[in-house]
Amino acid sequence: MNIRTLCIHGAVDKTQNTGAVVPPVYQTATFSHPGVGQTLGYDYTRLQNPTREFLENIITNLEHGRETMAFSSGMAAVSNFMELFEPGDELIACEDLYGGSIRLFENISQKNGVVIRYAKTWDLEDVSGKITKRTKAVFVETPTNPMMHVTDIAAVAELIKGKNILLAVDNTFLTPYFQQPLLLGADVVIHSGTKYLGGHNDTLAGFLVAKGQLVADRLRFIYKTVGAVLSPFDSFLIARGIKTLAVRMDKQSESAAILAEWLLGREKIKKVHFVGLPDHPDIEVTKRQSSGFGSMISFEADSEQTVFQILERLKLVQFAESLGGVDSLITYPLTQTHADVARRQNEKNGITDRLLRLSVGLEDVDDIIADFTQALE
Ligand SMILES: Cc1ncc(COP(=O)(O)O)c(C=O)c1O
Repeated sequence: MNIRTLCIHGAVDKTQNTGAVVPPVYQTATFSHPGVGQTLGYDYTRLQNPTREFLENIITNLEHGRETMAFSSGMAAVSNFMELFEPGDELIACEDLYGGSIRLFENISQKNGVVIRYAKTWDLEDVSGKITKRTKAVFVETPTNPMMHVTDIAAVAELIKGKNILLAVDNTFLTPYFQQPLLLGADVVIHSGTKYLGGHNDTLAGFLVAKGQLVADRLRFIYKTVGAVLSPFDSFLIARGIKTLAVRMDKQSESAAILAEWLLGREKIKKVHFVGLPDHPDIEVTKRQSSGFGSMISFEADSEQTVFQILERLKLVQFAESLGGVDSLITYPLTQTHADVARRQNEKNGITDRLLRLSVGLEDVDDIIADFTQALE
């Protein structure tokens, strides 16, 4: 089935035969049993819930995985993944990463004895140089947040093949509509479902998708034990959002490509990072492993003053921390998504006081351009 159809008919609601086109929200914490040692398939909503299971099955089918777990946020999903590791285990993490993941690694994972080694995962030699006997996983975000570096997923998978190292890919920016990491050799896919999957800036969610049953079972055990699960109603909202994923991704990425070119021509904008630009250093990898460019752009203004001017003057595009929804949002990574990352580390990665990140929404692109035109005047 084509992925456009899968977004709408990605799973079957196994629980009812009323003919309802949209499965009901099972707003229940618990389920009764017909007798001792008997179950109707559901016991307690922290373990399973039909509405959440319906959503999980959609994601499994879109990502070509074995099993999906739906979490109360993207960070809950990343935290659950990190519980796979023990003191002394090493994880190689992409150097340019969502700030919340870095905060987790630096403050919680390290405290728990997991050693984090940062690498430019878009540079195979750097990854290779960081592998030791204790390496248990490589954690990649591609494209990265916010600098838009692209990692060759298949090449990293090949590099660690046979070494008993898991490859986890945060697929938040492109979603399975544009990129399917498990088919490229990854073992686990991570999502902030808050972003494109939900698509409406109204619900927090996160996902882990496992390719193999062994990893799925380990993650599921942690999942039901820790309990950061997605509520039935939020599961319903994300499943509803996914119905329009294909059209949203197509239109938003089309607008982003137009906007990236337009920004390039502005005097006060010095650099534009968008994976679809012909001179993006990783354009060939992107074309090989993704079927679209997404709608995330970051750009560097000529001064901090211009950054403040843009943020204060934009009217349609809202100054807010998130991405992937139908409303265009602009973020100042230095004071928002990456505020807890050491200033020196941010500077090294290009996250300066002149960098802005833009999530292009579904508004008409001419209106977005008009908004930036008046903001830059
Ligand atoms: C790439 C990426 N991964 C994970 C997360 C965390 O997701 P959440 O905010 O849903 O916890 C974010 C949030 O911005 C993100 O951008």
